[in-house]
Amino acid sequence: MIPFSDIPDMTTVQFDRFAKLIHERAGIHLKEHKITLLSNRIRKRLRTLNMKDYDEYYQFLQNDKGNEMVHFLEVVTTNESYFWRTTQNYDALKTHVLPEVLKQYRGQELKLWSAGCSTGEEPYNLAIELIESMRKVGFFNFRIVATDISTRVVQFAQEGRYTGRKIEKIPPEILKRYFKPLTDDPEVFEVRDDIKKKIEFRVENLFQSTPSGMHVIFCRNVMIYFKREEQKVLVDRFHRALLPGGYLFIGHAESLQMLNTDFRTISTPLGILYRKEG
Ligand SMILES: C[S@@+](CC[C@H](N)C(=O)[O-])C[C@H]1O[C@@H](n2cnc3c(N)ncnc32)[C@H](O)[C@@H]1O
Repeated sequence: MIPFSDIPDMTTVQFDRFAKLIHERAGIHLKEHKITLLSNRIRKRLRTLNMKDYDEYYQFLQNDKGNEMVHFLEVVTTNESYFWRTTQNYDALKTHVLPEVLKQYRGQELKLWSAGCSTGEEPYNLAIELIESMRKVGFFNFRIVATDISTRVVQFAQEGRYTGRKIEKIPPEILKRYFKPLTDDPEVFEVRDDIKKKIEFRVENLFQSTPSGMHVIFCRNVMIYFKREEQKVLVDRFHRALLPGGYLFIGHAESLQMLNTDFRTISTPLGILYRKEG
């Protein structure tokens, strides 16, 4: 394997070419100050492939007929996620959204989409919260579609096994109720099979996938990577994917304020909600 230090730093010209490719393939806008990060991450890939510089790798990607584009996109996306992340969103779902949507779509199966689901914490968390909410609002059917551009994270999500920081915020009684520790490694907890069955995981690019008939969409901590024009394209796609009266949840650092969208904003003590009118 070529030593790490033998691979030179990435030049700005090389960075621009990779950044353009990343933008074309994933819609992700990499700012110039990310050059060291990108350089280091691709450097690891070069070592695995025994290549000596970034130009060679760029050429290889251009001629790629196999899986390298998948690896490349995995190198550049950030997949940080954990259970019980920004719980305000789940609380708002339970207190404001569910009673209203269940009334409007009485007797129908609820469809939710976790868009940019990463390693699966968000869709599993959603499934658990929905089941928990049935103690209050009564039984209803639901299913969740969970998509991400990265094959690696979707495979991880399907396994449904978590440990450490990813599960440390889960209340102990919930952990006990919905997860089981592995017999050979009790520090690792696996999501119950019946919860797994509620979720359909798919590898999909948000700018190409077209789910429809959704009651609720969670797309949190994803739009932050995109430029404003792409955010607008995406939010318009979400609007089309939702049924009238459906809701979009975004990350706490994200906003639709400047995007001029068709969503109605509703201020609640649990934050701003975005509703498709109807
Ligand atoms: C920081 S994670 C967010 C995970 C989860 N939503 C949460 O808030 O915990 C962002 C995810 O968006 C995915 N992503 C980025 N661009 C994407 C695209 N164009 N299509 C689908 N997923 C994308 C990344 O692969 C990554 O897993």
